[in-house]
Amino acid sequence: PKRRTVAVRAESINPDIRKSEEKVVDSVVVAELGKPVTAYCRCWRSGTFPLCDGSHVKHNKGTGDNVGPLLLKKQ
Ligand code: FES
Repeated sequence: PKRRTVAVRAESINPDIRKSEEKVVDSVVVAELGKPVTAYCRCWRSGTFPLCDGSHVKHNKGTGDNVGPLLLKKQ
């Protein structure tokens, strides 16, 4: 397969989420998930962080990035 070359700059990944915290950590008790599928943000652009609100789509279009959410699925 063809490899694509992407320019990567060293910069903060988190633009503005909970900057007063030394480290942003969230935990989830999977057995208590309310919905069959819950999407968690990995792009740090969500307005509902730690949940995904679809903001990764705009981020990917604007930067050429390819990030997406972590999906937790109920068994
Ligand atoms: Fe961040 Fe979807 S909004 S992964």
